Amino acid sequence: MVGLKKIPLFQDLQNDARQMKTPSFHLKELWKEKDRQTQLLYTAIGLQLDIARQRITPKILKKLIKLAIETGAVEKLSKMAMGQLVNVSENRPALHMADRATTKTIKIDNENISTQSIEVRKKIAQFTQDVHTGNACGTTGKKFQHIVVVGIGGSHLGAAFLYDALLDYAKPNMTLHFLSNIDPHNFLRISRKIDLETTLWVFISKSFTTTESIFNIWQAIDAMEKKGLVPKDHIVTVSSKTKDPNIPPIPAREAFLFHAGIGGRFSATSAAGLVPLSLVLGTDVCDEILMGAHEMDEHVLSSPPAQNLPLLGAVINVWNNCFLNYTVCAVIPYAEALSLLPFHLQQVSMESCGKRVDEAGNVLKLPSGMILFGAPGTGAQHSFFQMAHQGRPFPIDFIGVLNPKQTSSSISREKIRADQILFSNLLAQANALAFGKTSENSQTTFDGNRPSTIITITDLSPKNMGRLLSYYEAQTVLEGFILGINPFDQFGVELGKTMANSLYAEFVAMNTSENPLDIAQKTNEEIRHYLLEMYIQKLF
Ligand code: F6P
Repeated sequence: MVGLKKIPLFQDLQNDARQMKTPSFHLKELWKEKDRQTQLLYTAIGLQLDIARQRITPKILKKLIKLAIETGAVEKLSKMAMGQLVNVSENRPALHMADRATTKTIKIDNENISTQSIEVRKKIAQFTQDVHTGNACGTTGKKFQHIVVVGIGGSHLGAAFLYDALLDYAKPNMTLHFLSNIDPHNFLRISRKIDLETTLWVFISKSFTTTESIFNIWQAIDAMEKKGLVPKDHIVTVSSKTKDPNIPPIPAREAFLFHAGIGGRFSATSAAGLVPLSLVLGTDVCDEILMGAHEMDEHVLSSPPAQNLPLLGAVINVWNNCFLNYTVCAVIPYAEALSLLPFHLQQVSMESCGKRVDEAGNVLKLPSGMILFGAPGTGAQHSFFQMAHQGRPFPIDFIGVLNPKQTSSSISREKIRADQILFSNLLAQANALAFGKTSENSQTTFDGNRPSTIITITDLSPKNMGRLLSYYEAQTVLEGFILGINPFDQFGVELGKTMANSLYAEFVAMNTSENPLDIAQKTNEEIRHYLLEMYIQKLF
């Protein structure tokens, strides 16, 4: 990989960025340029990317694409798709795309990834059928009606986003819950909604070592045993390992595996997402998600750079971050069904691109990744859009749906449909941010020049959800490759975990001593004091 800053074009683009800050390059001026709106509009496989409200010109965009190619990022993505080693610090490939390319022969250590993926999917389909027909049932012979995923981070967020997005497809009499937080209230709240006799627990952990998930599954096991149920009848595991040698084996009726080369945050279309999603949405819906994701994978791998949607998204992010110095960006879907997308993307983007060093371990000289947040529109307009319009600016991805399935087809009293109001708001926000408004009153002046991309999808079908998922995955990976970082490791999460581990040891010692720490007998002030003391002792 060639360092971004070392590429001669980088200086050139820095000059462009300086120029972009002058009044004649305000978005309301750029907007007047002939053909801009068509030149900066891209469509492929059901997804449209409108970047005409980004602070770029077609000429700058061309240079950014050239820069991306010169870093070797595009080539590296192809290597990744072929199963080559790209996650250097962890010495493994990144196989989420290869896992979806079941017609290709991709071999790792002489094992055919496609064959493995097909086998796992068959096993999931069979198990799903067994659960739906009642062939696989709980200890007392009752059919499963509640699925509880025990998993966190990448073993939770992708599946949660897809489930929520596709709720309309959910099987009747089947509910899905996510137990991710170690906070006992998470367990309690779910416990109130389920019946243990008809509950199947899906323990998902790529590493099989995550404290929260292991603790939560043991809580579930305790609850089952108390009720006279056989835990093994009610648990399946999904992991890249069959067990963790350091913990007692988790009893399970089935163990589904996914390849260690599939990163947690990229695992939504592996067994980690497919096991729970198949159970609640059905195998046919999952097949559509997979097909959509694979189509977008093929698009990013085969389309020319200038027409390549995830590459365009990635270079826009690099431009906004490294050249125009934005540190924050937002994703605002104008679709309630996509409410959980920003949460999933927070992990995908920030765990992948929020790095300190480049791939070779050298401290980065450029910012890497932006803080990502988001919420669905129009709600977001009534909460944080004040800042978006008149406070600190941040680029936004607006996502709109042309044909929402749940269109309220009736024309209301106001002679307009709800989805038409929704879409009007999306367009109005993007335009207001870009063009602003002058006024004699400084309070009602809008400076404008605030960049955004409008992504439109045709509908909320499973296929489009797969495409959207893959679009953001590929955009993030390309962004990471352009920046010269490894988007697949996450060493940054380790220090806090290690520190917490040493504190657990303190609690274990207290709990097992002759005078166990009896929280119930202590005042809040005493507990706070105790924790602070312990924390300071451990820290210094
Ligand atoms: O702590 C971060 C992390 O390792 C994520 O990368 C991962 O998705 C999550 O924890 C859960 O990990 P696991 O699937 O191994 O339980």
